[in-house]
Amino acid sequence: MTQDELKALVGQAALQYVTPGDIVGVGTGSTVNKFIDALATMKDQIPGAVSSSVASTARLKALGIPVFEANEVAELSVYIDGADEIDAQGHMIKGGGAALTREKIVAAQSRRFVCIADESKMVKALGAFPLPVEVIPMASARLIRQFSALGGKAHLRLKDGAPLVTDNGQHILDVTGLQITDPLAFESEVNQWPGVVTVGVFAHQKASVCLLGTSSGVKTLTF
Ligand code: 5RP
Repeated sequence: MTQDELKALVGQAALQYVTPGDIVGVGTGSTVNKFIDALATMKDQIPGAVSSSVASTARLKALGIPVFEANEVAELSVYIDGADEIDAQGHMIKGGGAALTREKIVAAQSRRFVCIADESKMVKALGAFPLPVEVIPMASARLIRQFSALGGKAHLRLKDGAPLVTDNGQHILDVTGLQITDPLAFESEVNQWPGVVTVGVFAHQKASVCLLGTSSGVKTLTF
């Protein structure tokens, strides 16, 4: 099976975690796009979704799925999103699509995080994928030096030759060369550096379940 087919497989499998009558939390990315397409088949059974990005909101609305603001909903039963890396404890690196801050917000208001990923995302230790960090632009040069002191090399993410601007009007640093041996401690530490909006380690908001697309079908991992 191709990677695209594996993404479609887990996107479809995630429907079993959507409770009829409940608003669903929706992540961002190519795997989630498959989930959104599948969700459209049961749109009459749910009031709608809380979305983690402008891109997912547009896709949801185009398929006729109402989108609620996060502030309009106290708690969600489930949040469904992809990952750039996931380890055997359910810790993840996310933010390849630059939506990490809103993803973490919606994950935090959800009782369960269902991660949908193809098997290439499963890793022994986090850190091979460049770690996305959303930052306030005026802090980026100092944060690049701060990551350097940790042994990491941070680059400002560009789009069409200019710094990429997130849905929140901020920039993204992608950091390579880090050894993230204690994801919980790492997330807590980096998140309190002045100028960091959100670090793309999801350890405090880790997955509860991972639906992993493999050549022999969907494997369900629980954490
Ligand atoms: C977006 C994300 C995505 O979940 C992550 O990048 C995985 O994307 P894809 O499903 O396209 O591989 O964190 O900010």
